[in-house]
Amino acid sequence: MYDVFSLPAIRFPEGFVWGSATAGHQIEGDNIHSQAWHNEQQPEFYRDDPERATRAPSGKACDHFRLYRDDVELIASLGHRAYRMSIEWSRIEPVEGRWDHRALAHYLDLLERLVRKGIQVFVTLHHFTHPLWFERLGGFGKADNRRFFERYLTFLLPQISPMVSGWNVINEFNQWGGLTAGPTVAPLKFNMLRTHALGYHLIKRYSSAPVSSAHAFIHWFPRRFHDDLDRRMTDFADFTTNEFFFHALRTGELVYPGVDAEYDPEVKGSLDFWSVNYYTRHMVDARLAGLDGPRFAHKLLQMIPIRFYLEEMYPEGLTANLERLRDYPVYITENGCCADDDRFRIVYLALHLSALHEALERGVDVRGYFYWSLMDNYEWTTFIPRFGLVAVDFQTFRRSPKTSALFYREIIRDNGFGGETVRRYLDALPTLPGPVA
Ligand code: FCB
Repeated sequence: MYDVFSLPAIRFPEGFVWGSATAGHQIEGDNIHSQAWHNEQQPEFYRDDPERATRAPSGKACDHFRLYRDDVELIASLGHRAYRMSIEWSRIEPVEGRWDHRALAHYLDLLERLVRKGIQVFVTLHHFTHPLWFERLGGFGKADNRRFFERYLTFLLPQISPMVSGWNVINEFNQWGGLTAGPTVAPLKFNMLRTHALGYHLIKRYSSAPVSSAHAFIHWFPRRFHDDLDRRMTDFADFTTNEFFFHALRTGELVYPGVDAEYDPEVKGSLDFWSVNYYTRHMVDARLAGLDGPRFAHKLLQMIPIRFYLEEMYPEGLTANLERLRDYPVYITENGCCADDDRFRIVYLALHLSALHEALERGVDVRGYFYWSLMDNYEWTTFIPRFGLVAVDFQTFRRSPKTSALFYREIIRDNGFGGETVRRYLDALPTLPGPVA
């Protein structure tokens, strides 16, 4: 780990947007009409973990749907100036073609409360979850199903638009289908690009706030630096998860290995900013079917006691990634780490904000940063990884801000920080919890 106590003092540009991010299904609880909820009830969901040692259904999650008023107060008390959240389509349209006006009123109240606190709201319209009925009709696997999403947005957008400061049409579809995916996933990738473009143009009818779709921006790295095959497959993974997306939005050309390219003028220029979700780098190993190779043993941080969350802090990857996005403003819409020991989060924040600042100095127009996540939550299959600035007691749903939340609050207040700031919140670097269980 680095010496975060000696980090040089940095300041961010005037008006830099500071906030945190969440997603509906991960915090609300009882999202019963979604395909995710349905899947969590199936025995297959627990196939690899029949004892349910790590896997769990989302259940009440953070009970945010009930506690949202308190959570708005919490966000404001932590000094956040912005908040990225998602709206659950399956609550608003639980049955095909029928609007639930109470669910809509709930979201309108949440948005209004945030706006009244002076918090800029970034809304994600599709964050992995959608109604079960939509899934049963084939979901986004069928191009024709875009009309359902269009009908939903046409209902929703005019109502919420006045309260929204930034938009994500879809979260992280660039990685759907996996890294090694061959031509079979091209139709899904192309359909998602077109769904994104559809959302972009619809939003433009009602809102002047900037629009994008959040991009899971993995920094791919050859496991063996000088191995030609690892290097080529690194480029391949980057093409199929990152560059196809950037290229399509820039040019309208949908290009994917193994299929003929298509041109769609609706996709061309369908963004006002790049929305970057960055966590870490991944090693590409050409000799593995899945390409995703092990990280370097000496850099593995086992921040929580389960095998599948071995992490590596690689802040340089953020700088390198941002350098590819010089043509539009950028918001970091997710960045964070899961750790039981909150000191890791302080180190992670300090290093990644320093890396972000480096990109600013190199001329990338980064406008804002949303830490993932506001609070500990349901991480799609499990409650074990703790990403939150705020701890949640999943029995009582009591929220308790961690030291990292106070550190982040000071960064926001000062619009910058340095090693001296870190010293006030961290007495010593965290130690690794030992061998992998
Ligand atoms: C991202 C997701 C988000 C959360 C974080 C940890 O890929 O967008 O919902 O699960 O990872």
